Amino acid sequence: MDVMEAIKTRRSVRRFKPDAIPEDVMNEVLEAARWAPSWANTQCWEFVVVTDQAVRQRLSEEALSPGNPARRGVAEAPAVVVALGKEGISGFYKDSPATDKGDWFMYDVGVAMQNLCLAAWGHGLGTVHVGLMDAVKIEEILGVPKGTRVVALTPIGYPAVVGGSPPRKEINDFVWRERYGAKYTP
Ligand SMILES: Cc1cc2nc3c(=O)[nH]c(=O)nc-3n(C[C@H](O)[C@H](O)[C@H](O)COP(=O)(O)O)c2cc1C
Repeated sequence: MDVMEAIKTRRSVRRFKPDAIPEDVMNEVLEAARWAPSWANTQCWEFVVVTDQAVRQRLSEEALSPGNPARRGVAEAPAVVVALGKEGISGFYKDSPATDKGDWFMYDVGVAMQNLCLAAWGHGLGTVHVGLMDAVKIEEILGVPKGTRVVALTPIGYPAVVGGSPPRKEINDFVWRERYGAKYTP
């Protein structure tokens, strides 16, 4: 699958078959995260791969609200990848924030997660970025040390159901030419 096809056909998957993910496939997916770009190549990300059914159940029930459409998938998928970011590294120069944005860990971890999700899709695996969760509860469940934050997670597994494609804005709805507000016609 080429890059553009993966980007355009990837969908958020929230229902999974129970089939386990072969170790070599999971390693390839993690390899995609490994090669993500990051602030000054600081690579502030870490990942916890959870396959234990009881822990996935806890993540689903204790950290995701009943209204979260990904909740069932977290318990159902054979694995959950929890993405962590180490604070105070990305976006810092000599211990001070280098920009008005402060810590860039959310950005770097997001870039790595999307690499992971696209690689997973290329291997026939479904994922869904999950941000609506109790990150502090997950840090407690997984024993994440202080200074390292849970950023997002994704269930990962072979899709049982793949939904339709939610619509996207047109390019000329979000791209400006030369300066803000000037129409861009692709
Ligand atoms: C940062 C982020 C957080 C998200 N959080 C959730 C979530 O908590 N639960 C969920 O079901 N989907 C979540 N999503 C998935 C989006 O709803 C989904 O990407 C969007 O509707 C577009 O659909 P698509 O991924 O199939 O193209 C999240 C996506 C992103 C990027």
